[in-house]
Amino acid sequence: MEFSSARHVAATLAVAEPGGLPFYAAQAGEVALFEHAFHQRLPLLIKGPTGCGKTRFVEHMAARLGRPLVTVSCHDDLSAADLVGRHLIGDGNTVWNDGPLTRAVRSGAICYLDEVVEARKDTTVVLHPLADDRRVLPIERTGELLVAPPGFMLVISYNPGYQNLLKSLKPSTRQRFVALTFGYPAAAVERRIVESEAGVSAEVAAQLVQLAEALRRLTDHDLEETVSTRLLVMAARLVASGLSLATACRAAIVDALTDDADTAAALAEVVAAVIPD
Ligand SMILES: Nc1ncnc2c1ncn2[C@@H]1O[C@H](COP(=O)(O)OP(=O)(O)O)[C@@H](O)[C@H]1O
Ligand SMILES: [Mg+2]
Repeated sequence: MEFSSARHVAATLAVAEPGGLPFYAAQAGEVALFEHAFHQRLPLLIKGPTGCGKTRFVEHMAARLGRPLVTVSCHDDLSAADLVGRHLIGDGNTVWNDGPLTRAVRSGAICYLDEVVEARKDTTVVLHPLADDRRVLPIERTGELLVAPPGFMLVISYNPGYQNLLKSLKPSTRQRFVALTFGYPAAAVERRIVESEAGVSAEVAAQLVQLAEALRRLTDHDLEETVSTRLLVMAARLVASGLSLATACRAAIVDALTDDADTAAALAEVVAAVIPD
């Protein structure tokens, strides 16, 4: 039994934009794949670098399929009880409190576990029976066995770039999921994203995407990850708000990507070559 002040999980119910779906520019056949997996009641694993559109894709698909979305950002302290629920002590009595996974199963929602490899190992115990054809969630503490309704779908994501031996999916977990690999969008798609997310001109979007392509070709520097679509959108928003392109790139791209002075200088050189001051 734990008190309500115990660890909490970041769980949000995503809201669709008024009058439409969250904007998502597709890369390849991922929209159809998601729909087929949903209708076949198969869980989905999305792999890809940070800021390449995984979360936006899931938000878009949930709205498109008319399902509520429960998102959990996994972290290294996240336990099975955080997902499933726990007894909380109120005014002298204890009340069972559903966790986000349990709420998603009960309501037939799409449950998105972001960066799932970060979570504690005991979470796999609750994911396995939900991810195979049993589609059940046993709640040990209450003795309840929830059968997932057809609208429920489990979606997990992780970034293989951060992967190490301690933090990867076990084959027994991985092989329960249909997998989808994301990369950064193709240039034309990425230009459209930057333009529409930040409200900049086609010219500015094209320059930023051209810069991203040059930066992504740099391999001989000590960068953990290269420039993401998210960073391009951030730079573009600074431009839309009135900063110069060079200043925006410095703040949202160069200094965001590295703490190392030599690496920053190398990145700044690429910026200067693509974007005149
Ligand atoms: N395909 C896309 N369509 C629309 N926006 C995108 C797309 N890819 C990236 N973005 C933009 O980049 C931002 C980061 O994407 P996000 O889905 O949060 O990345 P991830 O979950 O892969 O880290 C989004 O908020 C959005 O502005
Ligand atoms: Mg995300």
